[in-house]
Amino acid sequence: MSHVAHRFAGCTIIVTGAGAGIGRATVERLVLEDARVIAVDSVSERLTRLTDEVEGDITAIVADITDPACAAMVLESAGMRIDGLANIAGIMDGFEPTAEIADETWDRVLAVNLTAMMRLTRAVLPRMLERGAGSIVNVGSEAGQRGSAAGTPYTTSKHAVNGFTRSTAFFYTPKGVRCNAVAPGPVATSIEAPFRSEWAGERLGPLFQTNLPAVARPDELAAAITWLLSDDASNVSGAILSVDGGWASI
Ligand SMILES: NC(=O)c1ccc[n+]([C@@H]2O[C@H](COP(=O)([O-])OP(=O)(O)OC[C@H]3O[C@@H](n4cnc5c(N)ncnc54)[C@H](O)[C@@H]3O)[C@@H](O)[C@H]2O)c1
Repeated sequence: MSHVAHRFAGCTIIVTGAGAGIGRATVERLVLEDARVIAVDSVSERLTRLTDEVEGDITAIVADITDPACAAMVLESAGMRIDGLANIAGIMDGFEPTAEIADETWDRVLAVNLTAMMRLTRAVLPRMLERGAGSIVNVGSEAGQRGSAAGTPYTTSKHAVNGFTRSTAFFYTPKGVRCNAVAPGPVATSIEAPFRSEWAGERLGPLFQTNLPAVARPDELAAAITWLLSDDASNVSGAILSVDGGWASI
């Protein structure tokens, strides 16, 4: 895939989930376009592999984004100028329908996919607002567009990501800070999605067999995320961009 030379020269971009999948592909694309990247992930070996294998200005932060101390660590590394935040880290559920949800799964999925995104966004906003510029990109999902793409906890969290994105865009676009989301369909990454429910298998199985689009490459998502982060998307805010091979149109 081609890239846009120097598009992020002088820019500092924070990326969560930077150690694998869509997050890592986004870091790779950003450094290719001259960004300074603050790369956050909870798995330290993944970040070590990232900094060993990818050339560029990458500051690795090993942190669980649900840790309330994470945002302060990220701000300290990023400094006063923060051009972009890509909230990419996320986890799946076990395809549990509502009657089968364990409190632990519900709490963890909402904590990682939603609350941590809010905390980090809340932390970077004052610095972006001070400069009157910034771009926040959240990773939602096809499961944020329909009820038939995951279990109830994940589906709920990704619908909430859309609301969080639109509300943030509403309040801050007039002040120069854009906020958008991408909604991927299936992507070839290391995300775990174990089928823990018999009923979910029965209900979703036939739909998945007939409706699923081709599995995307992580760099196809990175292309959309970096476009939204960049000034090329200067008039785009509050959008939920399906990057799903057309799945949302079925
Ligand atoms: N892969 C897909 O098919 C797909 C589809 C739709 C949406 N998504 C979304 O894309 C995003 C990225 O997922 P991916 O498929 O690249 O997954 P992945 O598992 O390959 O990468 C996610 C990265 O996030 C990190 N991470 C997870 N929880 C964390 C936490 N609490 N703190 C810090 N880091 C944490 C993991 O260690 C991992 O390196 C997620 O938000 C996911 O919901 C993925």
